[in-house]
Amino acid sequence: MSRLYNVDIIKPNTIFQGFYMCGIMGYTGSLDAAPILLEGLKKLEYRGYDSAGIAVMDKNVISMSKVSGRIAHLCEKTNDGKLFSGHAGIGHTRWATHGAPTDTNAHPHMSNDGKFAVVHNGIIENYLTLRDELKEKGYRFDSQTDTEVVVHLVEMYFEGDFRKAVMKAASRLQGSYALGVLCSDEPDKIIAVREYSPLLIGVGIGDNYFASDVTALVQYTRNVIYLDDGEFAEITKDKITVYDCTGKEINKEINHISWDIQAAEKGGYEHFMLKEIMEQPGAVKATITPRMKDNEIVWDESGLDKLDLKNVNKIVITACGSAYYAGCVGKYVIEELCRIPVQVELASELRYSNPIIDEHTLLIVLSQSGETADTIAAMKECMKRGAKSLSVVNVVGSTIAKIADYTVYTWAGPEIAVATTKGYTTQVSILYLLALWMGKKAGTLDETLYQKLYDNVKMIPKAIQNALDLNPKIPQLAKKYHSSKAMFFIGRNTDYAVSLEGALKMKEISYLHAEAYAAGELKHGTIALIDDHQPVIALCCNSSLQEKTISNIVEVKARGAEVLAVTYKDNSNIISVADDVIYIPQIESILSPVVEIIPLQLLAYYVAKENGCDIDKPKNLAKSVTVE
Ligand code: G6P
Repeated sequence: MSRLYNVDIIKPNTIFQGFYMCGIMGYTGSLDAAPILLEGLKKLEYRGYDSAGIAVMDKNVISMSKVSGRIAHLCEKTNDGKLFSGHAGIGHTRWATHGAPTDTNAHPHMSNDGKFAVVHNGIIENYLTLRDELKEKGYRFDSQTDTEVVVHLVEMYFEGDFRKAVMKAASRLQGSYALGVLCSDEPDKIIAVREYSPLLIGVGIGDNYFASDVTALVQYTRNVIYLDDGEFAEITKDKITVYDCTGKEINKEINHISWDIQAAEKGGYEHFMLKEIMEQPGAVKATITPRMKDNEIVWDESGLDKLDLKNVNKIVITACGSAYYAGCVGKYVIEELCRIPVQVELASELRYSNPIIDEHTLLIVLSQSGETADTIAAMKECMKRGAKSLSVVNVVGSTIAKIADYTVYTWAGPEIAVATTKGYTTQVSILYLLALWMGKKAGTLDETLYQKLYDNVKMIPKAIQNALDLNPKIPQLAKKYHSSKAMFFIGRNTDYAVSLEGALKMKEISYLHAEAYAAGELKHGTIALIDDHQPVIALCCNSSLQEKTISNIVEVKARGAEVLAVTYKDNSNIISVADDVIYIPQIESILSPVVEIIPLQLLAYYVAKENGCDIDKPKNLAKSVTVE
């Protein structure tokens, strides 16, 4: 009889907390604000950023300094903040999403009349509509960011009441945001707003703060108030008043932070990898939601809508490592939904393979960093032969993004652990959107199936959140399996594609010999390696092929294997054949890869932990491989 590691069906109201891309901070008190902001921003550097800036209010004037690159450069430019006087200010470290990492795109952003300055963490999903509206009303836009609409909205709604203007502006925003806003009419006041992006107020004595991340605050105060979604705070040096979204004043509890700085950087998790695994619902949500509007897939910022699909007779996906395995999922999905032949090629092989590629080939390039040397070389080789290129990249302004004809960004935020997790799941999510979009455009996907899949794709963040609820059970499994010498991962079709990434995760961080096999291939050799107690991880989420995989499970069981199966909640067939079962929430089979990888990431993580490995920095590996 198997042990059950059960996940409930998708919880309807799960809110994804704790995911963010940029870092924000604010100070109001009796000291000069600039040096305090700069020290706070330095504590946010660990999370990765590409530009930074501060705005300080002195009497009734707001001054600003912004740089692309490091905070050290900002310190140099402002003489460690001494060039500014003023006791209230806001600061920002930016991880570019909308617009390249330039000085102008760095935050804060200022209103045209110079009265307001804003820092923002999150994504404003309806920024294009708002930008058009504001431009029509005569507001000038200096940057390419989504954030700039916020400050112009505040200016537009200001009729003498700062808080009301911010509340009105916020009511127009869709997406996720933590905001800090200055108004030159009220020189010691900051208004902070939170919606789906973390934000906390630091409570001092004669000084108060806000930040997106507790690390920026612990050097100043350990007493904090956590804002909830929809809440606003009016912060002055002596007073903090919190309001709900209707403007009603509310009482908030003050919490004491006891984390040391290292624990705070990891959001209380032991490793960045675990933190990033947990961030996946938010990362996928940030990546897909802005592209899903009124039952359509939209590619506003990439210009991809202009791609002439009729001219495409073949798709080649190229990448390295996990990104290549994301491409393997993409092949199954695109071929199934779009009926266009898809080849997935390792970039290191493709670049030297004299590939058969011409102007009718669409090249999809997947890369978290956008800087992988082999991927860049393969891409150049294919583009030379006439292919149109579409890159799916996490780092704005990276080399691959610059070279590609079209770029769609995964908005996963900075990834610090060497082994990718949210990079992979956000890439797979974009491939789903692409397949839906192309299938509809090419007419290979009928309206009913399109709608069903569209609705299911929207549910992916919740399904991932649900699969994460396995967390308390996975460590037990890791204790059982960690001392094995080898582990085999098997599956068919999309399950096979996921088993490749599952095995790679296990190898990378636990140093255990892990291999993925197409389940149907076992008989052609690998089954000779199956012996007593040999762990086999069997992926059984592709409904149409489950019976076949069950037969393979039976075959390896008959040779003594210990089988851990991953399947859906209602799949009672597996219970009678596998030794252990992990359930994932029900989702359309073709979309299951992005969910079934979650328990495999956790398994790799906890096996590595049992084995005492350096999880965030595995030996011999680099986060970004910029040499051949
Ligand atoms: C390295 C990383 C992997 C990553 C691969 C491709 O090997 O350790 O996690 O999948 O590079 O990187 P890219 O940035 O191109 O996705």
